[in-house]
Amino acid sequence: MQAELGNIWNSEESPSLERKEVSVIDFAGQDAQKSIKPSGLDKLCIEGGHALEGEIPISGAKNAALKIMCASLLTDEPLTLTNMPVTLNDIKTLAHLLKHIGVSVMARHDKTAVLHAHTIKEPVAPYDLVRKMRGSILVLGPLLARHGFAEVSLPGGCAIGARPVDFHIKGLEAMGAQILIEDGYIKAKATGGLKGAVYTFPKVSHTGTENLMMAATLAKGTTVLKNAAREPEVVNLADCLRRMGAQITGDGTDTITIEGVSSLNGATHAIMPDRIETGTWMIASALTGGRLRLLNTNLDYLTALISPLEKAGLTIETEGSDIVVYRTGDCLKGTDIMTDPYPGFPTDLQAQFLTMLTLCKGAGMVTETIFENRFMHVPELCRMGANITIQGNSAIVRGVEKLKGAEVMATDLRASASLVLAALVAEGTTTINRIYHLDRGYEDIVGKLGNCGAKIQRV
Ligand code: EPZ
Repeated sequence: MQAELGNIWNSEESPSLERKEVSVIDFAGQDAQKSIKPSGLDKLCIEGGHALEGEIPISGAKNAALKIMCASLLTDEPLTLTNMPVTLNDIKTLAHLLKHIGVSVMARHDKTAVLHAHTIKEPVAPYDLVRKMRGSILVLGPLLARHGFAEVSLPGGCAIGARPVDFHIKGLEAMGAQILIEDGYIKAKATGGLKGAVYTFPKVSHTGTENLMMAATLAKGTTVLKNAAREPEVVNLADCLRRMGAQITGDGTDTITIEGVSSLNGATHAIMPDRIETGTWMIASALTGGRLRLLNTNLDYLTALISPLEKAGLTIETEGSDIVVYRTGDCLKGTDIMTDPYPGFPTDLQAQFLTMLTLCKGAGMVTETIFENRFMHVPELCRMGANITIQGNSAIVRGVEKLKGAEVMATDLRASASLVLAALVAEGTTTINRIYHLDRGYEDIVGKLGNCGAKIQRV
């Protein structure tokens, strides 16, 4: 008999990163409040030099789940989500925000979540939650569409760049919203509801596309989003919205058309596998030389990664929904990459790929075209012995014989993943500080890597 599953999201405490104690709820159904040491001070200790051999189950995609959780605001019926990465801090932070707005949220350790926005109590996303998780901006479109009013704190910048949300605002104004920016908040209203519009994004924007696509599902008339993002996560969100009764075509291309409907219903939807986690472990295999089987994922989402990795010397095979990777030959060869919106090379795998280049024969050039400050992993890698020169938005990486373990600092989510990769292959032990960045986007990194032979522990 399966033990009564607890609701791992019904802690009253905000999963704040700054909070001295983070309340956790036992899975056994007891609402136990346990204090654990502040996660912000946790470190990872990794002893390098061990090949990764074995299987890694890939979690549901953070960058699909966050938006689909916001879609629950569009209906007064329950939205059931499976393959949810329920233990990620970003997911828990958003769950806390949705509860604040009035959504009942329930998550179970079988990775199923049920979100029910029966009524909207408080259409406000306060600064202290939004600043922790920029994806909170994605409640703006759904709240305006469902409720006609929303107050969302401006997310502000983050480590990798200014991250403005002007396209989100301009697009909603094109759909008839009246928007005022005051006291650091976006104060938006749409009396009489939103209306269909044609909006062309000045630059491709992943969450901009998703915010407007959700808003358009309940607008009066037809909305056409041009120069839209084509990421698989946009398609996964559109699939969920269609299950809820939305009329959407063109998702996955640069032009998305949405016919507004009067209301949406509840649905059940599976979150797609995390392509960035998948790519991260493919690169880990290239670096450590071991053979990995990545479970329940999809190589179709990573076409831009295949040829650079194969050129570098990694063999990539698919078996059903698994990907098997292993290094052919005894050395990696350097190659160039340039990040681009999907289907180009994903910026979220740039730091990880650059880390691999530090040990490749020859040199490689990495050009970052999406964000203005996404090389913060470079100084840390240089402290481990890498040879990297930054020129503008490019980094020239010259291969070295080895990296040496050191004490390093994580600065943002994907930079910290790249430091884990470097530590797995460096000579000696590496200590990575501020690993709360990692907990935002990678589930159970110690368990997953430890099960494949990594000498890794959280202290
Ligand atoms: C999403 O961020 C992802 N986050 C990011 O993943 C990812 O790196 C990024 O897309 C690019 O793929 C989520 O999905 C939650 P953008 P997003 O809007 O939507 C500029 C991770 O590590 N821009 O596509 O914020 C912007 O400054 C995170 O998981 C505007 O100028 O990215 C950037 O230069 C990091 N005005 C470019 O467009 C706007 O209104 C692309 O940004 C919006 C964006």
